[in-house]
Amino acid sequence: MALPTQVKLIDVGPRDGLQNEKQPVPASAKIELVHRLQDAGLREIEVTSFVSPKWVPQMADNAEVMAGLRRRPGVRYSVLVPNMKGFEAALASKPDEIVVFGAASEAFSQKNINCSIAESIERFAPVVQAARAAGIAVRGAMSCTVGCPYEGDIPPSRVEYLAGLMKGIGVERVDVADTIGVGTPRKVQAAFEATLRHFGIDQVSGHFHDTYGQAVANTLAALEMGVWHHQSSVAGLGGCPYAKGATGNVATEDVVFMLQGMGIDTGIDLDKLIDAGKFISDHLGRKPNSRAATALLNKRAG
Ligand code: HMG
Ligand code: MG
Repeated sequence: MALPTQVKLIDVGPRDGLQNEKQPVPASAKIELVHRLQDAGLREIEVTSFVSPKWVPQMADNAEVMAGLRRRPGVRYSVLVPNMKGFEAALASKPDEIVVFGAASEAFSQKNINCSIAESIERFAPVVQAARAAGIAVRGAMSCTVGCPYEGDIPPSRVEYLAGLMKGIGVERVDVADTIGVGTPRKVQAAFEATLRHFGIDQVSGHFHDTYGQAVANTLAALEMGVWHHQSSVAGLGGCPYAKGATGNVATEDVVFMLQGMGIDTGIDLDKLIDAGKFISDHLGRKPNSRAATALLNKRAG
């Protein structure tokens, strides 16, 4: 067991979380959420996506949100882009990193981005090239690395195949995503083993939705392999409009609470993080979907 001594968390709440809200969330609230996350010590924040507003209207204010950010040196602001049109639109917003997003499942690729896995790689290749030429970092999200809402179980060989394609077009690091939260620790470890045939341990991160309550266990399983980049979502926000029934990402508060208890450094102030989660949850008219946040808020109130 080679537990990392420090972990870098990438909060995907503003993007993965707010892309899935039924009621529109104003750009001002999204901007304030990003500011609160950076004040809490987050050094990587996935802010928005430059996708078709017909497909995901929740992210139509992408440029406005990016323009409203008070950027803090040392913080990496990333955005999703599915194609060259999205990349060209994103360029003006000066993201530090773009994220191309593919899937280990053919059916999910079709539903989510309206093309096959092979076609998606053809679309991503010039985007990756243009981003790297412009000095912008490139991450690749790999959806459905353990299970797919349309195809069921996904074997590690599909993950290895996709990781190899991503590597082949120049993607610098990848996310091993459990889109619908059906992964359990050994399955998630197998997906990482497959990914690590193409990428180094510093170039992979976990992205676990918590639909079945497995995401903290899966985070620990990845940590035990030495994976030290993890994605999470403040207040457990999240979901994908093309993965019905899938709930939010593992809550950042829950991951930070676990890591603090294990003596693993994140550089995050848990109290400020809880305030950030409370801010957006109040805005959405519900309680934070985080056990640690609920417990600590109850303790504060008591
Ligand atoms: P398409 O309809 O096949 O695209 O959609 P198209 O190229 O045929 O273009 C159709 C129209 O869309 C045209 O406009 C284009 O200009 C426009 P029209 O002529 O009809 O007025 N268009 C765009 N507009 C703005 N930005 C763009 C863009 N591209 C085309 N970038 C497309 C293909 C990929 C665009 C579409 O399927 C799409 O936007 N999909 C996004 C789906 C999405 O955002 N899903 C959620 C994010 S992924 C996720 O959550 C998973 C993750 O968290 C990991 C995990 O948990 O698994 C990352
Ligand atoms: Mg996701």
